[in-house]
Amino acid sequence: MKRIAVFASGEGSNFEAIAAACERGAIAAEVALVVCDRPGARVTERAAARGIACFAFAPKEYASKADYEREIVARLDAVGVDLVCLAGYMRILSEVLLGAYGGRIVNIHPSLLPAFKGAHAIEEAVAYGVKVYGVTIHWVDATLDGGRIIAQRAFAYDGDDVHEVERRVHEVEHELYVETIDKLVKA
Ligand code: GAR
Repeated sequence: MKRIAVFASGEGSNFEAIAAACERGAIAAEVALVVCDRPGARVTERAAARGIACFAFAPKEYASKADYEREIVARLDAVGVDLVCLAGYMRILSEVLLGAYGGRIVNIHPSLLPAFKGAHAIEEAVAYGVKVYGVTIHWVDATLDGGRIIAQRAFAYDGDDVHEVERRVHEVEHELYVETIDKLVKA
């Protein structure tokens, strides 16, 4: 059985979708570890509720990004991870993590990349008056929301309700991330 790690910073609805899919066999893998850079985040409660190990850390307690990433790498190595899935992990990875796990790290982003990179993709797309929204899953490199695209799914929406776009983006994300991770672990 392949083993995956999910990195998240907040709510963790994508983590929930991935973990549930692993449990029912829709992803041929198990979630071996959750990594969270905000110790109080909802995703840490979700991991605990599912009995999944979680490494939650406060970046400011480390001297540098390289220091906490070295600890993350040690924890990934300790549980044995085949694929790292960033799911709302709001940090750019450094050479420490990329050096150790590069080529085995994917990210999900709530826009049709390369449009609307960054932390406010949905709000920016709505402000722009976008009519076709979507979700992208891509390999992770050292650039912000860069890296080769693996999968995209679009939907049409002609309105200006950010919450409605968020709701629909999440629906698409939960489906597309599950399908894509399953393909990747079987490849
Ligand atoms: C997701 O919509 C994900 O695409 C986005 O954060 C959200 C996390 O939701 N990621 C980015 O914007 C990365 N640049 P979740 O915590 O409920 O899974």
